Amino acid sequence: MRVFSGVQPTGNIHIGNYLGALKQFVALQDEGDCIYCIVDLHAITLPKEPKELKNHILDVAALYSAVGIDLKKSIVFVQSDVPGHAELSWILTCSSYTGELSRMTQFKDKAKGDESTPTGLFVYPALMAADILLYDADIVPVGNDQKQHIELTRDIAIRINNRLGDDTFVVPAGRFLKEGARVMALDDPTAKMSKSAESEMSRISLLDDDGKIKKAIMRSTTDSDGEIRYDIENKPGISNLLSIYSAFSGRSIESLEQGYAGQGYGTLKKDLVEVAVDALSPIRDRYAEIRHSGELKAALEDGAERANAIAERTMKRVRERFGLGR
Ligand code: TYM
Repeated sequence: MRVFSGVQPTGNIHIGNYLGALKQFVALQDEGDCIYCIVDLHAITLPKEPKELKNHILDVAALYSAVGIDLKKSIVFVQSDVPGHAELSWILTCSSYTGELSRMTQFKDKAKGDESTPTGLFVYPALMAADILLYDADIVPVGNDQKQHIELTRDIAIRINNRLGDDTFVVPAGRFLKEGARVMALDDPTAKMSKSAESEMSRISLLDDDGKIKKAIMRSTTDSDGEIRYDIENKPGISNLLSIYSAFSGRSIESLEQGYAGQGYGTLKKDLVEVAVDALSPIRDRYAEIRHSGELKAALEDGAERANAIAERTMKRVRERFGLGR
């Protein structure tokens, strides 16, 4: 089984990214061949300060290692180190429809009908499809917000397979966790936790110190009825905290509801602080050890080479099928 996924190199990688995606990346290492990418070409769909982008690429690489990705076993690499991504992206762009790209909710949310929306944001899903199809991935571990992009990847792959042969592309499947697939903002549990939200209290970043973790959880928005019960519609704040607690601790929501029955929100929050700090402080320590190490740079170099070898095999097949080249 081949596994592929990616994270954009931006700052503020948060517990939503961790509980929805990175935790799966680590677990899947025991089940298949894993390829984890730092998608810098995706990051420039919105203008980025070049120096900052370069740093964020290494930040994400170090976080991959810090959360438990084995840089020797899995392939970890930077997207722009493998030219096949950009090439296949163009080919898939030509096989995708403007209608389906216009229906992507992430595009609609970001573009809001503005005519000066960068075209890259519009064709972003074709680049994401290229990432996945380039490696013949079977499984793509992601959070819920990427579901639509994975569906589109499947549609494009099937469309091309129907035209050019069933074995042109492997049709991938998304993998989503029960708890953690959609972590909501702590200060507004009706919005997704995001890297770009202005308020620091909306998220817990993986590198936040214990004090910040405590503040964000203790101040998180709940409701006034005082009952610890999972009910997304009517109690989005408490439901989000239960979900986060469950994802960090492995305890089911039902067991948490029973365990906290009759207790106040303060107790639940205090315990969640402890659970989150216990999970995140070792990540912070490992990150500090590896971020500026030669080991990290060497791993990315090696990752690029290994990824390129697989990508080049796919591209040979794809160029052949499409009749490209001499
Ligand atoms: P990105 O960088 O926004 O997010 C990285 C991963 O974190 C998940 N995620 C969340 N999960 C739960 N709750 C949240 N609040 C939350 N926010 C983010 C995302 O679903 C993702 O799995 N387009 C992708 C990157 C990408 C990719 C790919 C992924 C590019 N090519 C190929 C898989 C395969 C993105 O922007 O993720």
